[in-house]
Amino acid sequence: MTIIAIVSQKGGSGKTTLSVNLAAAAEAKGDIALIIDTDPQATASQWGAWRADKAPEVIDSAPPRIQSKVDAAKVQGATFIVIDTPPHADSAASRAVEVADLVLIPCRPSAFDLAAIKTTVSLVRLFDKPAYVVFTAGPTHAPRMYEEAVELVQGFGIDPCPNILPDRAVYRHASAAGASVIEFDPEGKATTEITALHKWTISQVNMSTTTLEGV
Ligand SMILES: Nc1ncnc2c1ncn2[C@@H]1O[C@H](COP(=O)(O)OP(=O)(O)OP(=O)(O)O)[C@@H](O)[C@H]1O
Ligand SMILES: [Mg+2]
Repeated sequence: MTIIAIVSQKGGSGKTTLSVNLAAAAEAKGDIALIIDTDPQATASQWGAWRADKAPEVIDSAPPRIQSKVDAAKVQGATFIVIDTPPHADSAASRAVEVADLVLIPCRPSAFDLAAIKTTVSLVRLFDKPAYVVFTAGPTHAPRMYEEAVELVQGFGIDPCPNILPDRAVYRHASAAGASVIEFDPEGKATTEITALHKWTISQVNMSTTTLEGV
């Protein structure tokens, strides 16, 4: 079972959008995916309610219950869990990082947003978890801007994910319809991008597991 925590103290950075679409991408590749919504705003849960019984399932969890919900999900056959967390430093983010195999930190590629990831970086360091920044909602083609963003991120001692999720209106349209972008626009660019990000995520998890086993 793979557990991915989506964490960023910055509000509106794309955590819930990444959570639901990454889980949907895993489900499309044959996983039994589950989203654990630890945010009192319950945005992912709202998305789940709009979808009714359609996979991936969304459940909510108070921070102290995350581990037991993960254990129960494993027994019930879940193979890919994404934990969506609220903005601002709090116990949900800590507990999510603690149980995760890999942490993804969505961030808009602007200097103000990037400056705000420092707290999140400290948190992943505390638990010594593999973590990557995922650039979200930026321009589709702005090589200079992304070069600068990469430099800033690396300056914080963390690497960016090579796959980005640029600004695509389809994310907003799909969410409003209770759908993932894969379902809403199967041939679209956002579908290609989230599918590639999912593939890369799996490869990173496998790599860190292999490293641990090889120790
Ligand atoms: N790649 C993207 N392209 C276009 N719009 C995006 C993208 N990622 C996120 N958005 C939009 O940005 C807004 C904020 O995204 P989202 O709710 O996922 O952020 P969040 O980090 O979960 O917010 P919060 O901190 O409040 O939980 C939403 O309207 C969402 O549709
Ligand atoms: Mg959210």
